[in-house]
Amino acid sequence: MATAASTTSRVLNSSLAQKITGASEAAALIKSGEQVGMSGFTGSGYPKAVPIELAGRISEANFRGRKFRVGVFTGASTGPELDGALAMADGINLRLPYQSDPETRKRINAGEMDYMDIHLSHVAQFVEYGFLGKLDVALIEVTAVLEDGRLVPSSSIGNNKTWIEQADRVILEVNDWQPAELEGMHDLYYGLQPPPHRQPIPLVHPGQRIGTPYLEVRPEKVVAIVPTNAPDRNSAFKSPDETSRRIAGHILEFLNWEVQKGRMPSNLLPLQSGVGNIANAVLFGLEEGRFEGMTAYTEVIQDGMIRLLKSGKLTCVSATAFSLSPEVLSEVNRDMADYRKRIVLRSQEISNHPEIIRRLGVIAMNGMIEADINGNVNSTHVMGSRIQNGIGGSGDFARNGYLSIFMAPSTAQGGTISTIVPMVSHVDHTEHDVQVIVTEHGLADLRGLSPRQRARLIIEKCSSPQYKALLTDYLDRSEKLSYGKHTPHLLSEALSWHNRYLRSGKMRPADGD
Ligand code: COA
Repeated sequence: MATAASTTSRVLNSSLAQKITGASEAAALIKSGEQVGMSGFTGSGYPKAVPIELAGRISEANFRGRKFRVGVFTGASTGPELDGALAMADGINLRLPYQSDPETRKRINAGEMDYMDIHLSHVAQFVEYGFLGKLDVALIEVTAVLEDGRLVPSSSIGNNKTWIEQADRVILEVNDWQPAELEGMHDLYYGLQPPPHRQPIPLVHPGQRIGTPYLEVRPEKVVAIVPTNAPDRNSAFKSPDETSRRIAGHILEFLNWEVQKGRMPSNLLPLQSGVGNIANAVLFGLEEGRFEGMTAYTEVIQDGMIRLLKSGKLTCVSATAFSLSPEVLSEVNRDMADYRKRIVLRSQEISNHPEIIRRLGVIAMNGMIEADINGNVNSTHVMGSRIQNGIGGSGDFARNGYLSIFMAPSTAQGGTISTIVPMVSHVDHTEHDVQVIVTEHGLADLRGLSPRQRARLIIEKCSSPQYKALLTDYLDRSEKLSYGKHTPHLLSEALSWHNRYLRSGKMRPADGD
């Protein structure tokens, strides 16, 4: 359980120090129907005391028959004290832009909560341009408040700069648990003007700093400051198994080949690694590989990135948040002053900005739910309708990177599901944005291939032996019978695998089907 501390020595501005109050008093400042921009990105830097108090007030109001719900905007996923508590209280009417909490997921899939799954680089400007209505409150965890009123950010930045600028009222949680050595790690860029006045973002290297280490806030907007002393809570990664090691092996071999062909330098191009166990396993693989002097321009820093930094193979990382297992987190917190020299945390509109991703030539590596034989990728929906997490930054990086790689085991749920299917049941990344697909069986390099060529290659290299003959049979018949032969499909059959799974619990037809 998160603890709200009664005091903190980290609010150095004397007039702001007068606004120090308890979590319950601060929560009482949030009204039903309001939209709240909260800090938090993959279990880092989210407010830990006020959301629980708010959830308590909501439960009580709901119990008395007074419907109380708020809109919750964040950077990405958060922790159980935020998403879990508010979802459990049935207190969220609209959630965006990403979640991975089991209770939130359950309510969204039950149709009880609206969820907007949007590209993470779009969120700040959607709010700035008013597409999402008015932002009433910003609720932001920080590490400290300086004498001059500027704020030392916490272990994630996400959309905090935008929430503070756009909201009418600001509530700060000052978390003493966050290492004071975080000061100086952040880079907040205040130079983005709205079109048509926007200038190029002057960032040409992942480790470069182009802004200030501090968040700025107009003091009169701050309505409460709540001291806390509570840890970030990220979940542990599964240790890499044989399947993820093989996926990592295929990617390493491919990157070696690209270097040999002269398509990228021997220290590679900046890496982006997505969320999830497989993405983390690939980073572990890179630790054993031969590449030195690598850099990363990514969204989250997982365990694998820290290992690469420790081994010296990675020289610097740009991201918007930490996403570390509890063990690695305590190690990083201990050595934060040292990591600060090699890590830059930025706003997510900059960490995920298309202009910079394209300029730097990022290698994007993301997990997927399923891919189809043409190379369309579904990152978000199980059987076309149940949200798993969300698109996160995968679209920002896949569309704009130099190389866009998607990976997954070839089957899921004990082999009852093939992750290579005739047609994806939901599309997040189109065939035009996907260049490489990898499973434990192999890697399909789709660059320069037509849809029919891609289909043969994906089936040959990536499908599970359990499903290869079925996919080949589908493609053979599609090539003969399809209405058009450019992207052959049999529309009456294209989603039949998903339908069969929903009916029988297996994508494979039973004998005699
Ligand atoms: N059908 C049904 N379930 C599937 C599935 C499929 N085709 N593919 C995966 N799953 C299930 C797994 O069985 C597992 O379920 P479990 O939790 O009950 O065991 C769950 O999805 C996670 O899969 P896992 O194989 O452990 O992969 P992962 O942890 O690497 O996560 C994604 C994969 C796709 C869910 C994850 O990468 C994601 O959310 N991606 C979208 C966001 C993103 O890419 N962000 C990066 C931006 S920087």
